Amino acid sequence: MNDNVTFTVQPGGHLSGEARVPGDKSISHRSIMLGSLAEGVTEVTGFLEGEDSLATLQAFRDMGVRIDGPENGRVTIHGVGLHGLKPSAGPLYVGNSGTSMRLLAGLLTGQNFDVHLTGDASLSGRPMRRVTDPLALMGAVIGTAENGTAPLDICGDQPLYGINFEMPVASAQVKSALLLAGLYAKGRTCVTEPAPTRDHTERMLAGFGYPVEREGATACVTGGGKLTATPVEVPADISSAAFFMVGTSISEGSDLTLRHVGINPTRIGVINILRAMGGDLTLSNEREVGGEPVADIRVRAAKLKGIRIDEAQVPLAIDEFPALFVAAACAEGETVLTGASELRVKESDRIQVMADGLQTLGVDARPCEDGIVIQGRAREAEPIGSGRVSSHGDHRIAMAFAVAALRASGPIVIDDCANVNTSFPDFVNLARRAGLGIAEGRQD
Ligand code: S3P
Repeated sequence: MNDNVTFTVQPGGHLSGEARVPGDKSISHRSIMLGSLAEGVTEVTGFLEGEDSLATLQAFRDMGVRIDGPENGRVTIHGVGLHGLKPSAGPLYVGNSGTSMRLLAGLLTGQNFDVHLTGDASLSGRPMRRVTDPLALMGAVIGTAENGTAPLDICGDQPLYGINFEMPVASAQVKSALLLAGLYAKGRTCVTEPAPTRDHTERMLAGFGYPVEREGATACVTGGGKLTATPVEVPADISSAAFFMVGTSISEGSDLTLRHVGINPTRIGVINILRAMGGDLTLSNEREVGGEPVADIRVRAAKLKGIRIDEAQVPLAIDEFPALFVAAACAEGETVLTGASELRVKESDRIQVMADGLQTLGVDARPCEDGIVIQGRAREAEPIGSGRVSSHGDHRIAMAFAVAALRASGPIVIDDCANVNTSFPDFVNLARRAGLGIAEGRQD
């Protein structure tokens, strides 16, 4: 079971020095997928050795791909080509990972064998029709549970045809699933997004020599090409760095530099929002690695103010809201978020779970259908109260409440934290080194 890890975080302190957080989760998943389907051997460095990306790695091993590592973030993938995957002996289990399930749903519709795709209890409650419906328009045959959730039964050997699809939700997972299916489809598959979402799939396909046409909000691929192995260097994950950006911003005297962080323009909502709140973030050493921009980010403590968050930033910061809500609680004045109903269908209902936890800690946080209103408590010496909250098995909730302790009046105890391993296996050690008074305990 995953419910037996508790974090106890002592109040106060500050963050300082330098830190390099683990590799980007989204890019790590995609490196395994495209490396496996490529012709030749792909060397990946900086790979995230977290449960989610390891679930993708295991799925491809189960389908006959030889993958060496990971060892210190180094993975060697012996690509089998677009048509070289083999049926797995049993179901493919992807744990907690929505990215694995949705992207694999697209990719596996192109194979000539059937697949039974399963996940843990949280993933089995998340909506899958957003991918299975458009894939069906391409000719895929995929069974879901009655309410449109996993497990997914993907029938092999179905002819696929390119479509033009306008996504109703801004989702990189849906876009990527369709583009990956499009590699196997007759003709051109085009996906139009209502707002920019992370474009790692398009960038990496291009890196593997597969042409992706982009016109405005539309990305297209034409089936029948091939992928050629190429080295992939995974930058540090801005979504993991976000907890330290917020922790540093809210705690007086903090000054922390985060190294080699991915700053893809489709991912920098957290920087934009923190700056709009008055955050002090400086980027330096900007460079490009393997088609992705990276930088070192120096963060210093700042007096944050509450804002109305620009809805255009929502998809660009979609995973960073738990941390940003903590920043809002420590700011001066009110912060209003709207247009973010997607937060309700992540690893937990992040609007409700964060509102509940913040209220337990004495913060006026009112959830609404598609967002939240938080009254900042900057005028209090300690804006966050002491208490016990639950992460509801959601890694990002656990880490957000951990950094909240930097401005708390007493210890914060966070239950159900084992899932931090899905995206940030070394969080406790790294946070301790930076100055957070965090201890991890196990309950049997
Ligand atoms: C991801 C896309 C986002 C994000 C998730 C990773 C990806 O999900 O929340 O953590 O790697 O494509 P949606 O595309 O559903 O918004």
